[in-house]
Amino acid sequence: MKILSISWGFLLTIAFHCLFSSVECARDSQTKYPKSTFTFDQLWELEKTFWDSFLYPANVKQTQGNESSIFNTNVQGRVDITRTFDGDELNREYIFGLFSDPVHVSLVGVPIAYNITQFAANDNIASATTVVTFNATTFGIQIPVTIDTWIEWDAGGKIIQYDAVFRLFDYLVDFLIGDVAKKINATSSDQAVAYVSDLLAKTICATHEQYCTGSNQQYTDTAACYEFLTKDVRFGKSYELGKNTLLCREVHEHMVHYRPGIHCAHIGPTGGGYCVDDMTYPQTVLQRYFNDSWIPYGYGEEQDIWLGS
Ligand SMILES: *[C@@H]1O[C@H](CO)[C@@H](O)[C@H](O)[C@H]1NC(C)=O
Ligand SMILES: *[C@@H]1O[C@H](CO)[C@@H](O)[C@H](O)[C@H]1NC(C)=O
Ligand SMILES: *[C@@H]1O[C@H](CO)[C@@H](O)[C@H](O)[C@H]1NC(C)=O
Ligand SMILES: *[C@@H]1O[C@H](CO)[C@@H](O)[C@H](O)[C@H]1NC(C)=O
Ligand SMILES: *[C@@H]1O[C@H](CO)[C@@H](O)[C@H](O)[C@H]1NC(C)=O
Repeated sequence: MKILSISWGFLLTIAFHCLFSSVECARDSQTKYPKSTFTFDQLWELEKTFWDSFLYPANVKQTQGNESSIFNTNVQGRVDITRTFDGDELNREYIFGLFSDPVHVSLVGVPIAYNITQFAANDNIASATTVVTFNATTFGIQIPVTIDTWIEWDAGGKIIQYDAVFRLFDYLVDFLIGDVAKKINATSSDQAVAYVSDLLAKTICATHEQYCTGSNQQYTDTAACYEFLTKDVRFGKSYELGKNTLLCREVHEHMVHYRPGIHCAHIGPTGGGYCVDDMTYPQTVLQRYFNDSWIPYGYGEEQDIWLGS
């Protein structure tokens, strides 16, 4: 009898709540994008589809054409060691184009294998940890990279938001520099950093020379370019690939050939809004950016400080 009365009271409370607060009751359908709730199996397949297309040489195909089979036109993306990236075209150049040329000088080279080691999914959102093996062709080694991701898909199964974290990336950079130090018989890590700086600067300046001409020109000549990249700008810490650093310009150098009009400024002295020191640590952590909540079924939106306007 007592149990029954509690149950009735509980049901009445719910009914009351729904009558006077339709927001609470409509939660599940209240999202900004039309979406279908995927099954766990479908989300697992969508996750694998993304990583399969991330691998070289499949990623080359993703950089071609004018419409993505992976990203929604208005995709929003954030990567902890760089910054935020809006839209399909930019994200295809960045997520796929950046890692699609084994011959070109680069930090980690091309992704050749992956294993998903952690995966949880609900609604249209999945959180995963993926260990990706990169063939770091510039340094002649294979290197495992751990990438933690949150991905949200639209109703058509295209990525509408992603948030990626490169786990242990500082360790990775130290490992790469240490490997270089050994190969060149360096007596200090500074010497190895100088060696890598020289290599990256020469590569960026050659790209500038080839693609950044006319109104896209950033440096008066290759000597000025090299001088700036090796002396006037810092090499960059492992979390500064979206700041005013040489490492940031190395990231954007890979995208220049796709659209010089857009990307030349990013490798130039101004950084073009991407390789700039525009945010403090608290601003970075507290940045309001994503249009949709990362918490399935609309839970917790009222306390979500990462939601944009
Ligand atoms: C993509 O290219 C095709 C063929 O050139 C064209 O028909 C289509 O309109 C383009 N789509 C977009 C979104 O630009
Ligand atoms: C996110 O919201 C902003 C502000 O309302 C809007 O300008 C932008 O287009 C939205 N982005 C997406 C991906 O819907
Ligand atoms: C991941 O799994 C594949 C098989 O699916 C395997 O070939 C590969 O070596 C594994 N390890 C890494 C680190 O990629
Ligand atoms: C790594 O890249 C080098 C240079 O392109 C190539 O010779 C080698 O076969 C690649 N290794 C793997 C495992 O893909
Ligand atoms: C480093 O030292 C080893 C052993 O003395 C030598 O064989 C090798 O050629 C050196 N490498 C460079 C790049 O100087």
